Amino acid sequence: MAESGATLSNLSTESRVFPPSEEFAAQANATAELYDRADADREAFWAEQADRLSWSKKWDKVLEWDAPFAKWFVGGQLNVAYNCVDRHVEAGNGDRVALNWEGEPGDSRTITYADLQREVSKAANALTGLGVGKGDRVAIQLPMIPEAAIAMLACARIGAMHSVVFGGFSPGALKARIEDAECKLLITSDGQYRRGKPAPMKENTDEAVAGTTIEHVLVVKRTETDVPWTEGRDLWWHDTVETASDQHTPEGFDSEHPLFILYTSGTTGKPKGILHTSGGYLTQSAYTHHVAFDHKPGESVYWCTADIGWVTGHTYIVYGPLANGATSVMYEGTPNTPHEGRHWEIVQKYGVSIYYTAPTLIRTFMKWGDDIPAKFDLSSLKVLGTVGEPINPEAWMWYRKNIGGDRCPIVDTWWQTETGSTMIAPLPGVTPTKPGSAMRPLPGISATIVDESGTPVGNGEGGYLVLDKPWPSMLRGIWGDEERYRETYWSKFAEQGYYFAGDGAKYDEDGAIWLLGRVDDVMNVSGHRISTTEVESALVSHPTVAEAAVVGASDEMTGQGIVAFVILRGSAAKDGGDDAIKALRDHVSKEIGPIAKPRQIMVVEELPKTRSGKIMRRLLRDVAENRAVGDVSTLADSSVMEMISSGMQEGKED
Ligand code: PRX
Repeated sequence: MAESGATLSNLSTESRVFPPSEEFAAQANATAELYDRADADREAFWAEQADRLSWSKKWDKVLEWDAPFAKWFVGGQLNVAYNCVDRHVEAGNGDRVALNWEGEPGDSRTITYADLQREVSKAANALTGLGVGKGDRVAIQLPMIPEAAIAMLACARIGAMHSVVFGGFSPGALKARIEDAECKLLITSDGQYRRGKPAPMKENTDEAVAGTTIEHVLVVKRTETDVPWTEGRDLWWHDTVETASDQHTPEGFDSEHPLFILYTSGTTGKPKGILHTSGGYLTQSAYTHHVAFDHKPGESVYWCTADIGWVTGHTYIVYGPLANGATSVMYEGTPNTPHEGRHWEIVQKYGVSIYYTAPTLIRTFMKWGDDIPAKFDLSSLKVLGTVGEPINPEAWMWYRKNIGGDRCPIVDTWWQTETGSTMIAPLPGVTPTKPGSAMRPLPGISATIVDESGTPVGNGEGGYLVLDKPWPSMLRGIWGDEERYRETYWSKFAEQGYYFAGDGAKYDEDGAIWLLGRVDDVMNVSGHRISTTEVESALVSHPTVAEAAVVGASDEMTGQGIVAFVILRGSAAKDGGDDAIKALRDHVSKEIGPIAKPRQIMVVEELPKTRSGKIMRRLLRDVAENRAVGDVSTLADSSVMEMISSGMQEGKED
């Protein structure tokens, strides 16, 4: 790959702009002067944001930055669970609903802040009774049930760290994470509902726990499945937690006291245990949830569709919203159980006003068809959010029209497990939006796009996204591996002291930021560095395409040639004939230029995705280059690759 000069070509242009409506702007939490205020004095700005929280001891200093190690709100003390629960009860809001929980089979639970205070206190007492204390690690593998949030908050309350592992991870993956963090306790369930049927959980976690540091396994009953039982080690949640006292006095912990470890596997390699601490993390989580979603306590009904096993679930199901006294919806199941309108039915039932989801799901909704959301009353919606991948402009437009009724601002939020909370996003009511752009860093956050030498690029140019100033919710390290922390994030631009996010990005002519995918996926065609995102978005802008993934495959003539895998929309799904393929290739050429015209296009039924919904282009590269497909252990559905590889034999080329 070319190592100097333009790091990424700027191929697409987008002329659609949506300024905030006057009506929305008039009631928005955020105002334009936030940007200036934060620029004028960043530390004072963050100190103001930290005042959203209740501190048992005020901090002495806002920031201590000994690169790459930050301490925020130095000397301050707080209890994270008290901030998320008790203080709302003390303020007279004990009757406010914290969680409207919707089970996959159709059962539901309503949990108020007063209920949550009792439940978290009981769980905290139970954990203490099991010998779990300050600094100990607790592994949690649970379905999307209220006990998942309760368990996390109980850990936070007693100063123990949680390590939540997504419910779909295998026993091997869970075991590796338990071993790396030397967890003392595992909290799990008997089973979990998957697409309408109970699937085993405890049976798998037993396999993971064998021979590890786990002393006890606390088991929530969810599916009433028969489970294997080890006397002395295993305990039922309903025997242990339900019987504990519901009185518990929270203690203040240091602002830098560790709150959790969350493993992120990326697409390859040993998972990294990303470490987050208390005061800074909660400050930025609460602040971003307030301004980027325009959340109004006691009024908004907020739904983040992520799983608690990902950082989005940590920050925007548990910590951010609860710190802000939000009323949330939490849904246990898959979006098409028992029908493809399930999400819209839930929006209608609870009057959801803020809906936050991932592009992969939006593209799936597009594939299922416009007629499905059209059957439901979505008029309660006020703000829509997206996170996890670049959102293709056409998917953004679809979301705006079919879900947001052409009236709701869309906040495209860029961030990472490592950043802890949102970094780049428009402020609803303030920042005009463009379909597909995350627009600009939030007030208080500084991000830049630089070239290979670390020099900022100009408008209309692409490069590497870096974060050039520390931020409160930044990761504090990789658990047990300082060297890897320095190497992964701080070595590429060591001289400048920039955090390297691993993403490509560009400024458009107006200086708005467009995320262009992981730099490892960038393609090099005849010396032009082309982002996967731009070609994929060009494909998705064709009316027949619901989803696309492109990769660079070695090519004798051009270095790499672009190979595209596309999923067609419902009505077009049968038409993968030569004419249709030619039309798609020509469409890309017309939209962004002949250089980006795919050499080959394959129509597929599914794309390989990680369990959090990100496309695994590495595996598609193997297929495109006729290699044996590499490690598929992080794939959500490993059979997808067999399907694609066998189809590739009949792939079309011209
Ligand atoms: O590549 C970016 C992409 O997701 C990566 C972070 O993934 P993870 O740690 O799993 O966290 C996901 C939830 C915060 C980023 O490096 N990404 C995330 N949000 C966006 C995005 N890419 C483009 N636009 C986004 N809004």
